[in-house]
Amino acid sequence: MIIERQEQVTEAVLAAMAGTPDPRLAEIMTAFVRHLHAFAREVRLTEAEWEKAIEFVVGLGQFTNDTHNEAVLASDAVGFSTLVCLLNNGNAGNSEAASALLGPFWRMNSPRTENGGSIVRSPTPGDELVATCRVLDGTGQPIAGAEVDVWQASPVGMYENQDDSQADMNLRGKFTTDADGRFAFRSVKPAGYPVPVHGVVGKLLAAQNRHPFRPAHVHFLIYKPGFKTLITQIFVPGDEYLETDVVFGVTKALIGGIDRAADGYTLNYDFVMEPGEAVLPVPPIK
Ligand code: BEZ
Ligand code: FE
Repeated sequence: MIIERQEQVTEAVLAAMAGTPDPRLAEIMTAFVRHLHAFAREVRLTEAEWEKAIEFVVGLGQFTNDTHNEAVLASDAVGFSTLVCLLNNGNAGNSEAASALLGPFWRMNSPRTENGGSIVRSPTPGDELVATCRVLDGTGQPIAGAEVDVWQASPVGMYENQDDSQADMNLRGKFTTDADGRFAFRSVKPAGYPVPVHGVVGKLLAAQNRHPFRPAHVHFLIYKPGFKTLITQIFVPGDEYLETDVVFGVTKALIGGIDRAADGYTLNYDFVMEPGEAVLPVPPIK
């Protein structure tokens, strides 16, 4: 069609895409174009602002490499990763989800560690954390033989891959649940940390007067055929950034289970898996 007025641009684009054979791609792109055009109309986007937006998108690529994904970080920082996570977990978004975003620091081959073993692989000063957890199905029955990846930042807020003073795979481990669905490990209490701010997302956060911090947490990825892979984080109660997590990963169900003990902290938590497909995400880093 020949366009006469701005209102007709949307119609022209939708018509051009009308022959998309894949119905899901057709549905997604139609909604995307409608919302994108409506957004430009709502804010009366200027040409200079359009140029800035393009610069931002180009920056997402320029700041992405084998060890950092700026596009994922952008998705995280506007709550999009958490929204997609909560839409797809917790009975398809209808009940409280036990899941949280994967984040950029999961590594595929964490060292297999015996139940009750330590994931401290080089001297890491800090309060001891002793975790005893269970993996259950929706009826409360234990899930035996589930593979559990654990990873966390150190007590100074650094993952091992960001910190030359830590051994390779420090504070990472892979466990298998026993007949009671139980797994246990020893570690140190993690600290909160800033997300990487060297790229365009850091610039955006600064322009919005937002701090870059995440509250202290431990990550879990639980895999068992017959169940939807459970990717989640447990947050340290009382952390100063719980309510303002820069990537919106904190949900009520995920705060807690961490208590002060005589000489350190304990972490007790029951993870509940939903039936579904056991698929592993693409590792964000090598
Ligand atoms: C993390 O929890 O590891 C994380 C999540 C999003 C952005 C940066 C870090
Ligand atoms: Fe993290």
